[in-house]
Amino acid sequence: MNHGPISPLSNEDFKQRRSELLSRCLPNSLCIIPAASLVKRSNDTEYAFRQDSDFWYLTGFNEPEAVLLLSNSDDYNGQMSMVFVQPTDAFAEVWHGRRLGVRNAANTLGVDYAHSVEELDEHLTDIVDGHHQLYFASKANPRADDFIEFAIESCRSAPKQSKAAPHAICDIRPILHGMRLIKCEKEIEILKRAAEISAEAHIRAMKYAYAGCNEFELEAEIKHEFAIKGAKHEAYHSIVGGGENACILHYTENNQAIADGELVLIDAGCELHGYAADITRTFPVNGQFTEAQKALYQLVLDSQYAALEALKPGNTIAQGMSAAVRVITEGLIELGILQGDLDENLEDETWKAFFMHGLGHWLGLDVHDVGVYKSKGKDCPLVPGMVMTVEPGLYIPSSAKVAPQFKGIGIRIEDDIVITESGHKVLTSKVPKRIEDIEALMS
Ligand code: GLY
Ligand code: MN
Ligand code: MN
Repeated sequence: MNHGPISPLSNEDFKQRRSELLSRCLPNSLCIIPAASLVKRSNDTEYAFRQDSDFWYLTGFNEPEAVLLLSNSDDYNGQMSMVFVQPTDAFAEVWHGRRLGVRNAANTLGVDYAHSVEELDEHLTDIVDGHHQLYFASKANPRADDFIEFAIESCRSAPKQSKAAPHAICDIRPILHGMRLIKCEKEIEILKRAAEISAEAHIRAMKYAYAGCNEFELEAEIKHEFAIKGAKHEAYHSIVGGGENACILHYTENNQAIADGELVLIDAGCELHGYAADITRTFPVNGQFTEAQKALYQLVLDSQYAALEALKPGNTIAQGMSAAVRVITEGLIELGILQGDLDENLEDETWKAFFMHGLGHWLGLDVHDVGVYKSKGKDCPLVPGMVMTVEPGLYIPSSAKVAPQFKGIGIRIEDDIVITESGHKVLTSKVPKRIEDIEALMS
């Protein structure tokens, strides 16, 4: 029985996405979208199953090994959907869990036809026969590369040229990922809830923190809050870095005690109905910023505000990045961390020594979501429905040639936003980021 939160997405939504995908493909095309497989973790044990994001986007079906076929051939009166699923198997289900099964699949998933995945090879050659284009994501799934190659070769080598192999193999990703890049209202609703749960988890970690606590204690607080709010999984491994560990961008060891006087950087977000949140906050483990920490922190926060101002329809992420970089560079010169004049520093990109990643990324079913950022060398303009992170940072390792009070400090402030008609909306505003608000919460 499922006691988890109910997704606002319905079979109708998935059906509409499938239909939209087919309408963007050339006539007489077959799309092939495989589900993910289980991945071995150690003997007789697998990693927690995570569905392939493309397959999930088009079906909402969470079983491994399935395959979705979609056709817009006239042979099927315009549009056809077919799913191959694991058959029911009393023995396998006792060991590994329930399966939807072939009999229930078409009705439950709202597709036209369902078959056992064990019969895939047998059916696929006949289905491929006569389609002019095959759309799939080659090299993304070795199992699919194999069964698609088998079907194409079977058509080519059919006796007496009795089957017509496809004329063209097309990449499904530009179309499908273009669709995923623009979120509908229901997706935004889920992303907003994922962001709220994640914000509550960050607040809980801030309230829990104490000088000397271990990074993994904060990680546990975060994960517990996700789970009790209905988000069973993290969207990615939480990063909890005290002191200089915050300068390791993808630090996930999370096993060190955080000393009195140190900052801690937490980058954590839950996954809800497949959609990710991605929040970073940096705060003093003892609840009080030092003057040097305040100076650097305020600089990152001001750079984030400057970037946010630029993030609206028609503008680009690059414009947000330039705004953030200008504020950071000015501030670093003022603090004596960079020397010389602003324009020279901007020209020489000296800030890259301390802010070495981009401003943010698309956010959706994948935490680093699909969708292009540039086309023909030009940055793509933002449009309503795009969801992204805004995450400037400053990372000053102890080896840096700077005044001692700035050494060993890593700061990132990351929020999630949706681009709206009039600008943007911050989805993660519930978790404080102003110095006085963080200190008040932790006092
Ligand atoms: N949590 C990974 C990132 O911020 O990109
Ligand atoms: Mn991020
Ligand atoms: Mn992050």
